[in-house]
Amino acid sequence: MPRITINQIKEMKQKGEKIVMLTAYDYSTAKIIDEAGIPLILVGDSLGMVMLGYESTIPVTMEEMLHHTKAVVRGTKQAMIIGDMPFMTYHLSVEQALRNAARFIQEGGAQAVKLEGGATVAEKVRRIVECGIPVQGHIGLTPQSVHQLGGLKAQAKSLETAARLIEDAQALEQAGAFSIVLEAIPHKLASLVTQKVSIPTIGIGAGPGCDGQVQVINDILGSFTDFVPRHAKQYAKLTDIIRKAVTEYDSEVKAGTFPTEKHSFIIDESILAELRAK
Ligand code: KIV
Repeated sequence: MPRITINQIKEMKQKGEKIVMLTAYDYSTAKIIDEAGIPLILVGDSLGMVMLGYESTIPVTMEEMLHHTKAVVRGTKQAMIIGDMPFMTYHLSVEQALRNAARFIQEGGAQAVKLEGGATVAEKVRRIVECGIPVQGHIGLTPQSVHQLGGLKAQAKSLETAARLIEDAQALEQAGAFSIVLEAIPHKLASLVTQKVSIPTIGIGAGPGCDGQVQVINDILGSFTDFVPRHAKQYAKLTDIIRKAVTEYDSEVKAGTFPTEKHSFIIDESILAELRAK
């Protein structure tokens, strides 16, 4: 079956079908998500925090993103894979943005890229799209601007900032983005943006009125517990499960109850006898 296309994603908005998106960073997890039929998989730069232990997404490099993107692509057959352009890999010039977007497609095997920002990045979005690369926008809380924003906190709560957010969404639509992530904004504003643009909005901490939802896979699995964002719901507590398994393994190895012969390989007794006789 061919991978999901941007046209199918846009049609989902028209049909009123909710669009589900998750992040993935490795082969095995991406395979499970793909087999579950999730249409959009984002190799988010959040991998800097949940996979690599950085304090923010700012240190993440193109090389790190490509390494994980390739693994996710190898693990998937149906989902559209979106590569998240890291900090300062699209800000310097249109040429830099094109070059790095192309790397996600050519080297990483992704089908689309995502970049943070509204009107200020619209020209770059337009040029990337003109070159044949689908772009997903990302406005509201844009974690790459954490220092400028004064922390990872909700955005667009005043008249001025909310009006600017609507303009940003419209600028991204006009530039040709196929969808827009709305992160950590008031839910009624997210619903309004969703009505004002014809492309799908994908919310994270933006309420139920968006056309779709995205979550960081580690947040819904409860496998990253340095902090749990307010918008996340833990559908599992993987840290507890992993801790229990690791502790049991430790005890069994120390007690000599693991491994048993069942977990080992056999050698012909005659060979053993010869070896012993030597
Ligand atoms: O990097 C990421 O995972 C993201 C999502 C939270 C949208 O940008």
